Amino acid sequence: MSRGGELFIFYEKSMPMIDEKIVSIQSEIEKILPSISSKEMLENFRIEFLARKGKVASLYDDLKTVPSEQKPVYGQKVNALRKYTEEQFQLLKSRLDSTVSEKEEFLDRTLPGRMRPRGTRHPITQTMEEMKSIFISMGFGIVYGPEIEDDYHNFEALNFPPNHPARDMQDTFFIKDDVVLRTHTTPVQIRIMKHRKPPIRVIMPGRVYRNEAVSARSNYFFHQVDGLYVNEKVTFAELKGTLITFAKSFYGSSIKYRFRPSFFPFTEPSLEMDITCFLCSGKGCRICKHTGWLEVLGAGMVHPNVLRNCGYDPEKVSGYAFGMGVDRISLLRYGIDDIRTFFDNDIRFLNQF
Ligand code: DAH
Repeated sequence: MSRGGELFIFYEKSMPMIDEKIVSIQSEIEKILPSISSKEMLENFRIEFLARKGKVASLYDDLKTVPSEQKPVYGQKVNALRKYTEEQFQLLKSRLDSTVSEKEEFLDRTLPGRMRPRGTRHPITQTMEEMKSIFISMGFGIVYGPEIEDDYHNFEALNFPPNHPARDMQDTFFIKDDVVLRTHTTPVQIRIMKHRKPPIRVIMPGRVYRNEAVSARSNYFFHQVDGLYVNEKVTFAELKGTLITFAKSFYGSSIKYRFRPSFFPFTEPSLEMDITCFLCSGKGCRICKHTGWLEVLGAGMVHPNVLRNCGYDPEKVSGYAFGMGVDRISLLRYGIDDIRTFFDNDIRFLNQF
């Protein structure tokens, strides 16, 4: 009995048949089960193993030849195998019943297609895209700059002297003493002029930030499109021509416009452009404060100091620049009365555009 060898021999001699058969039928079943993928295969499985003349049932016949003192042991084994096989059969049956096989599927080709929900572009993005495509058609390229800027690009290089009140016009969010959230897209002009040589003709769209109280009309962030053209002998007339072409293309050819003198540290001379209010056609309404005019952009000839700051000789090259807001224009175009709804991300609002 030292190795249990005698016991083993005893088993082998007295009832090798049924023991071996149980094991081999069980391993056969375990091998077939995972491959059953149709009702037909499952039925074949049932016939082979579970039917009255099946392999599992035949074990009960073999049980009869087992000596009676061993019957409980082998009876239990056979019962366990039958139970296991039946359970697996039921499991597979319910799984196959719930999946529709290819043959059973009925495809009604006359049904209308299922609509996939489609997103829409944000109204601000739409306005920007339209502005961009007009300038692209006029030969402008597009460049982008960082939203976190340093004081140098946002102010100093743009000819804002230190402590100059013009800096107060733009309520700045400071990150550090000399690092800010850009208050306009104009600093990208400095970046592109330092990066490339003239001729440069680009627009610079993007998001800007100002520490302003949030209200229906103003937000602490908004969007601008700046423009810049630098070359030899760029003239004020070219600036006006470009702005008029843009305005007629964007607002409609029937609008009227006017230029007013203005001030920006980075342009000289500077101007602001108004167009006839497109809501009241210039008659005067609440939106244009009964003036009939809407201010739409600022512009001017690039200040010689700015050209110098970028390493250009103002005697050799000149340029014009302009900048316009996107959000207020979008409000007016779409007839929205509260700027905050643009950024609530309410899908019921956004879906309308
Ligand atoms: N940066 C100005 C602003 O934020 C707008 C502007 C005015 C941009 C004149 C320009 C410009 O490029 O030439 O109000």
